[in-house]
Amino acid sequence: MPNIAREELKPEESEQLLLLPGGHPPLWNHMDSTGPVGLQQREGAPGCSQEGLPCPSDSSELVLACLQQFKVTETQLRQIQASLLCSMEHALGGQASPASSVRMLPTYVGSTPHGTEQGDFVVLELGATGASLRVLWVTLVGNEGHRMEPRSQEFVIPPEVMLGPGQQLFDFAARCLSEFLDAIPMDKKGLQLGFSFSFPCHQTGLDRSTLISWTKGFRCSGVEGHDVVQLLRDAIKRQGAYSIDVVAVVNDTVGTMMGCEPGFGPCEVGLVVDTGTNACYMEEARHVAVLDEDRGRVCVSVEWGSFSDDGVLGPVLTTFDHALDQESLNPGAQRFEKMIGGLYLGELVRLVLAHLAQQGVLFDGCTSSALLTHGSILLEHVAEMEDPLAGAARVHAILQDLGLSVGASDAELVQYVCATVLTRAARLCAAALAAVLSRLRHSRELQMLQIAVATGGRVFERHPSFLSILQETVKLLAPECDVSFIPSVDGGGRGVAMVTAVAARLAAHRRLLEETLAPFRLNHEQLAVVQAQMREAMVKGLRGEASSLRMLPTYVRATPDGTERGDFLALDLGGTNFRVLLVCVTAGGVKITSQVYSIPEYVAQGSGQQLFDHIVDCIVDFQQKQGLSGQSLPLGFTFSFPCRQLGLDQGILLNWTKGFNASDCEGQDVVCLLREAIRRRQAVELNVVAIVNDTVGTMMSCGYEDPRCEVGLIVGTGTNACYMEELRNVAAVAGDSGHMCINMEWGAFGDDGSLDLLRTCFDANVDQASINPGKQSFEKMISGMYLGEIVRHILLHLTSLGVLFRGQQTQRLQTRDIFKTKFLSEIESDSLALRQVRAILEDLGLPLTSDDALMVLEVCQAVSQRAAQLCGAGVAAVVEKIRENRGLEELTVSVGVDGTLYKLHPHFSSLVAATVRKLAPRCVVTFLQSEDGSGKGAALVTAVACRLAQTACV
Ligand code: BG6
Ligand code: GLC
Ligand code: GLC
Repeated sequence: MPNIAREELKPEESEQLLLLPGGHPPLWNHMDSTGPVGLQQREGAPGCSQEGLPCPSDSSELVLACLQQFKVTETQLRQIQASLLCSMEHALGGQASPASSVRMLPTYVGSTPHGTEQGDFVVLELGATGASLRVLWVTLVGNEGHRMEPRSQEFVIPPEVMLGPGQQLFDFAARCLSEFLDAIPMDKKGLQLGFSFSFPCHQTGLDRSTLISWTKGFRCSGVEGHDVVQLLRDAIKRQGAYSIDVVAVVNDTVGTMMGCEPGFGPCEVGLVVDTGTNACYMEEARHVAVLDEDRGRVCVSVEWGSFSDDGVLGPVLTTFDHALDQESLNPGAQRFEKMIGGLYLGELVRLVLAHLAQQGVLFDGCTSSALLTHGSILLEHVAEMEDPLAGAARVHAILQDLGLSVGASDAELVQYVCATVLTRAARLCAAALAAVLSRLRHSRELQMLQIAVATGGRVFERHPSFLSILQETVKLLAPECDVSFIPSVDGGGRGVAMVTAVAARLAAHRRLLEETLAPFRLNHEQLAVVQAQMREAMVKGLRGEASSLRMLPTYVRATPDGTERGDFLALDLGGTNFRVLLVCVTAGGVKITSQVYSIPEYVAQGSGQQLFDHIVDCIVDFQQKQGLSGQSLPLGFTFSFPCRQLGLDQGILLNWTKGFNASDCEGQDVVCLLREAIRRRQAVELNVVAIVNDTVGTMMSCGYEDPRCEVGLIVGTGTNACYMEELRNVAAVAGDSGHMCINMEWGAFGDDGSLDLLRTCFDANVDQASINPGKQSFEKMISGMYLGEIVRHILLHLTSLGVLFRGQQTQRLQTRDIFKTKFLSEIESDSLALRQVRAILEDLGLPLTSDDALMVLEVCQAVSQRAAQLCGAGVAAVVEKIRENRGLEELTVSVGVDGTLYKLHPHFSSLVAATVRKLAPRCVVTFLQSEDGSGKGAALVTAVACRLAQTACV
């Protein structure tokens, strides 16, 4: 045997060194890809090869040629490093990655530990170390106090469990958990568990993780594509012994990184070489395309085991690698891992030894059935045999156990084989780690990267030389990185506990959020009750009995029939904008010219006279600009407040709503107030013909396009509805035939206490701070003037609980109306990413984290969903009443709708429609959005009134 020193295989060795004497090409380059001839058991084997045995002088060449295949040159390592880096960047960019690339899976771990985490945690580890499952009890003591060693117990998973049904595996895990807990004298109430599950998973949260595919020695059915946390929870429940909350799931690399002892500075890479191999590292969140996150860092599990770019790995793969792959549980997959992971190193050694024996180089050319049996040489054997001191003796013992007779020179050769296989593994692992380090250096735009890498796994523990080769090779491949390698203390268990502590805190926050939002989530029964109460209140209101619904007659008896003609002025007061309009109704259609005027708050809440003078000033200005001065056009006045009408041109304001509160108006006829203001302004002549509510204007406006439109709905600053009722049901107006449009003034629904069960403390806060406490209960739960305020009060509450904004109350959030309802529409818009949600909140000066943004979104959703559902329950009550009034089995009806909330919110309209469909299944309801505002409708009402007046004169 040639005396081949182990050092010859160190990274710095020259590429020439292993060239065969005489420059022979490596022997096995000609072999087919299924493996070296002779590796398959020949007929009659085990046994000794009879013919073709090389003469002793050939044997060194044979060995060299055989092991030459395991040589990976520096150039190849650099190619692997570059190709891996490229694969990582592709996967980060979200480009569809082929199965051969790395996966780059975000883990939802956003920061390395602060060291402040505290509490007792149970950790269950599955998949890192071969066929064993470990349970640990970890106590975190925060910054103060001494670190406490975890208690742990290891369980061997029977082979049939590793390959059987998934449920059996998880039941086994749950049994081990109980057995472990039974034996320890700790308080076991409210146990929180971190699940270290070391397989490639798509995580969608800290406690949601779908297995992509089994790797290593596992292949249980019914688990791939499923959430492994749920499977574990189900098994724990079936087991029934302990109530355990599974709060986090992590990859072993993440546990390794997170458990790094403080004191070394932040450790931002976790490297595992155990049964399999993988690494995780802290990536800039903005570079991870699948995450909607532009700040901070997130831990990404590279899953480099699946890397198998043919271009660079192909030339490196030996015939033994091919043979090993073929006999594995997952042929074709995890090719990179199969050259490095501890599950495979023993097997590679076995395949080489068997081959060399069959070539007559080892064991006198004899094999044994054990040597030809898959799995007979384990990582532990390789470690023992490779040990330069005790190794030779162990080689003898181990090989004898395999039924082999070990000759004098065999031990050294076997040691050499072990070292070769291991050296290659360390060098390949170094190339992969160098790729991660380059990635980190580039993403942080650093010339020089100083970083700590936490290492874990049995290959490190058992093979001290692995780390030294790895270190040297990394230095060679990534000279601009200054790396400290820090061995993980307790197999990553502490790190898992750290993540679990954070997850537990987040889960507690989530529970508080859910509790807070629960009263906003109305079920079908609750909505059906609202519908029934609304219906009852409608009937009472129509009869003139005590009811929170006033059901005001509007004196509009018919929807437009298309014969209306003429030029009209219209006013539109009470929504977001005050408008003056010129509406020309011709046979060819309706033409509208309008101008928006502002009504400052001091006017809206000043004296009545000031308000109406301001309105007339605006009209005069409009007339002048439109060249209408001196003309006395008929005027329709959309006045969006509750008025008791005694005719079309008479409306006594019952009370102001929304933000208006001008004095001396309530109880007055608004038309008179307007006429008086006109008189005061002597220069103008105006002929006020009709006053209409905005709901009525909207219904009429949509009715001009669709004769089935018999309901008007507003969901804007305020909310309200009107509809065509049978005149016989309207006690306040004489007559038994025909219809009349009723302004329901449903904003006041519930003012008699009927909605109290649904009202939350946040509704009460908003009501108390409003200018009309105790009034407009329904409106305050639905409309744009109030939703932002409800959200603001919820955010204040969640902040006080420490759930949001790190518990910091800000002055901004305490400012009334700072959270506009339009923010709900923007925040809930599907096209906006969470990062934009954050931009909106940051504009408000709120110090938020990414979790905060998501929670604020959920708050907005809960509030707007309740609003839309309540609104839907109201519409359902209205359309059902129309259907029953007419004795119809099925009613087809259209609802004309206006209002900024309804129009701008991304989901409001569809939620209203869905609620109506559920609550009024016998009505086919079409919602028509008013395009022209209610001014057009007011003009149409005016046109009808003019026509009737003319007819009366004739
Ligand atoms: C407008 C109508 O389009 O919508 C108004 O012309 C109505 O009459 C208003 O009051 C309601 O919506 P908002 O959001 O402006 O209150
Ligand atoms: C395998 C798994 C990976 C794990 C690694 C080390 O590669 O797919 O998730 O981290 O083994 O245990
Ligand atoms: C308020 C008014 C009502 C109006 C509604 C929508 O509820 O009282 O008249 O229709 O707002 O603007």
